Amino acid sequence: MKHFTLLTILIIAFSGCNLQSPGPFFGNGLHNGWVDQNSVVIWTRLTGEPEMNRAGPKFLEPDAENHRRLDKGANIDSIYMAQLPSGFSLDEMEGACPGMEGEVKLVYYPLKDPETRIESGWTPVDAQKNFTYQWKLTGLTPGTKYVVEIESKKPGKSKISDKITGSFRTPPDAGVVTDLNFCIVTCHDYPRRDDSINGHKIYSIMQQMFPDFLVHTGDVEYYDKAGPFALTEELMRFKWDRIFALPYQRDFYRQVTTYFMKDDHDVLRDDAYPGMRYGTVSWERGLEIFDKEQFPSNDLPYKTIRWGKDLQIWLMEGRNYRSKNTDQDGPDKTIWGKEQKEWLYNTLLKSDATFKLIITPGPILGPDRENKKDNYSNKVFAYEGNEIREYLKQFDNVFICNGDRHWQYVTNIPGTTLWEFSCGAGSDVHAGGWDQNDLRPEHRFLRVKGGFLKGSLYHSDEKVNLKFQHFDVDGNVVHEELFSKDHLN
Ligand SMILES: [Fe+2]
Repeated sequence: MKHFTLLTILIIAFSGCNLQSPGPFFGNGLHNGWVDQNSVVIWTRLTGEPEMNRAGPKFLEPDAENHRRLDKGANIDSIYMAQLPSGFSLDEMEGACPGMEGEVKLVYYPLKDPETRIESGWTPVDAQKNFTYQWKLTGLTPGTKYVVEIESKKPGKSKISDKITGSFRTPPDAGVVTDLNFCIVTCHDYPRRDDSINGHKIYSIMQQMFPDFLVHTGDVEYYDKAGPFALTEELMRFKWDRIFALPYQRDFYRQVTTYFMKDDHDVLRDDAYPGMRYGTVSWERGLEIFDKEQFPSNDLPYKTIRWGKDLQIWLMEGRNYRSKNTDQDGPDKTIWGKEQKEWLYNTLLKSDATFKLIITPGPILGPDRENKKDNYSNKVFAYEGNEIREYLKQFDNVFICNGDRHWQYVTNIPGTTLWEFSCGAGSDVHAGGWDQNDLRPEHRFLRVKGGFLKGSLYHSDEKVNLKFQHFDVDGNVVHEELFSKDHLN
């Protein structure tokens, strides 16, 4: 009896250990970013639980007047009191995925050559940066699919608490002729997901297309939307932790080569510009949290990447260098900044890629609504907008792809080679902002619904083809445009 009791106690104690969260886990998976022929940045975060909290209460939603008051007052206690039901902490809220101290280790190798695996040492995640950690991997081989394995453990312990596997692909060199496909998305948030358990349907659809890469053009989340209004750094992080714990998002980003860009709502608020604050968060901190903490980091927030002989992409940064939207328009007013603009002009001219893609958070051609004051298609940035449009007219192989606008469109300015493809919001409930009946002469396509943009580069006979297809959120093609060039050897 005595033995039995002891055994029972041991079994209970043992299973109790297993039931208790051993952590830390990879509740946000892993992300990659800034991939080029030879390097990539891998990002991860340690969490106390493997999944987000599905059971907690929902946030209280202050009305517009109260939101304004909380923003202006910038008082942390008031911000929490107005949004957290009494008696609950942030970690107990529905969607919470709190971070946890711990150490991480990474192994990577080419899919076809696992023998050449390279292993990092154990490193603690940075509790000051939301329990995240980033590795920059260099010396990679172009045109190669890599496998990444990461493991976690408690600080100073040896037992592995979690392990996940991911992958990314390096772009082929400039001389390589190859078919490719890629996807471009924008504008989604947790409240407006179209699968309440899994996230946004577009991710599961895009994943089945095995894109060589994805570009997210920003507005990945919305700090300034209720549930909660992210008026503190802690609330901002809460929103990142929650959206990247969604199964569709987590599964997709773990496995697909990605370029993350940011827009206004990822920095502070709608149409954000230097000098602004949102609640307790400054403009500078808003940039830093995105650029240096929550997403894979690069020295510069813009980059061009060659994807084989026939494609080169330019990822344009639209927030860091901009003037205030309220400044007088003229030669000194800018969105891209002088340096970035010159870099774009020079590298576009230098590139011998068959097709060149300028990928930008905000539109350059539009059309956009008359009252907007944030992008190159708006009157308040007409000076620089016109300069860029004039410059781009010399090319017949440059295409603009943009996010930001919550509707899908294709614009071709009549009589020019200027084309712009707006990928549209990430769910139907997020779409809006334009009247479906307001079709302008420059519109080749207009659809005020959610979805994504897919590009396919393929070779046929003597031609190189670039096909742009707009998809709805269920994976149906709703429009396509095809461009072909002679294959120049
Ligand atoms: Fe947006």
